[in-house]
Amino acid sequence: MSSGEKLRLGVNIDHVATVRNARGGCVPDPVRAARLAEEAGCDGITAHLREDRRHIVDADIERLVATLSVPLNFEMAATDEMQEIALRHRPHAVCLVPEKRAERTTEGGLDVVRDEGRLGRYIAPLREAGARVSLFIAADRAQIDAACRVGAEVIELHTGGYCDAHAEGDAATRDREFDALREMTGYAHDLGLEVHAGHGLTYDTVQAIAAFPEIRELNIGHFLIGEAIFRGLGPAIAEMRRLMDTARA
Ligand code: PXP
Repeated sequence: MSSGEKLRLGVNIDHVATVRNARGGCVPDPVRAARLAEEAGCDGITAHLREDRRHIVDADIERLVATLSVPLNFEMAATDEMQEIALRHRPHAVCLVPEKRAERTTEGGLDVVRDEGRLGRYIAPLREAGARVSLFIAADRAQIDAACRVGAEVIELHTGGYCDAHAEGDAATRDREFDALREMTGYAHDLGLEVHAGHGLTYDTVQAIAAFPEIRELNIGHFLIGEAIFRGLGPAIAEMRRLMDTARA
């Protein structure tokens, strides 16, 4: 794998479903959003089926699998229930994430070091079923080493700490988080892992991360769905794409 390859944009449509579920019923439809995202030039759609079904529900996954023309990245906790669903649908990619019922969003990365044996038992069948398996982790050397040992092909580095510090104007934390992301992207790439990143990215933060030549994919959701209120989903995605491409160039 060489550096500087095309940077893919995965659009996470979970929060279209959040708005739908606020009222029940079927609008706005996350599958319609996924199709619009495809038309706007995204490279994949990401959807997280949570244990509590707070946004995406099982029927959304079925419809996405049936209608998408770009790859589906299925985000899930490592549980038997989710594993069964993933093996039934055989998505292009599976991203294993930690999940806590009380959290508002995925707050941290997986503790692969502590959970190595258990995660390995989920990863192997998913890979055999043809899914590209990634692990959502912090930019931490020990977690990356464990991800390698456990058989992941891809890691997704959690950019939430960097983005939060940027938004809060906490320059010291922002710079520390950024340096860790920069260093660990190179470290993981040198180990042969494909490196993705995501969480909390906005127009203000995306370019610094997109400029890392080893990063192959960014997964972005909440900001894009919010921005769609003001400029429409297609233009919101097109602007993100433009910023990514400019940073990469
Ligand atoms: N990547 C992963 C693994 C995630 O869990 C999330 C949030 O669901 C994202 C990316 C996207 O984060 P955001 O919605 O903040 O852009």
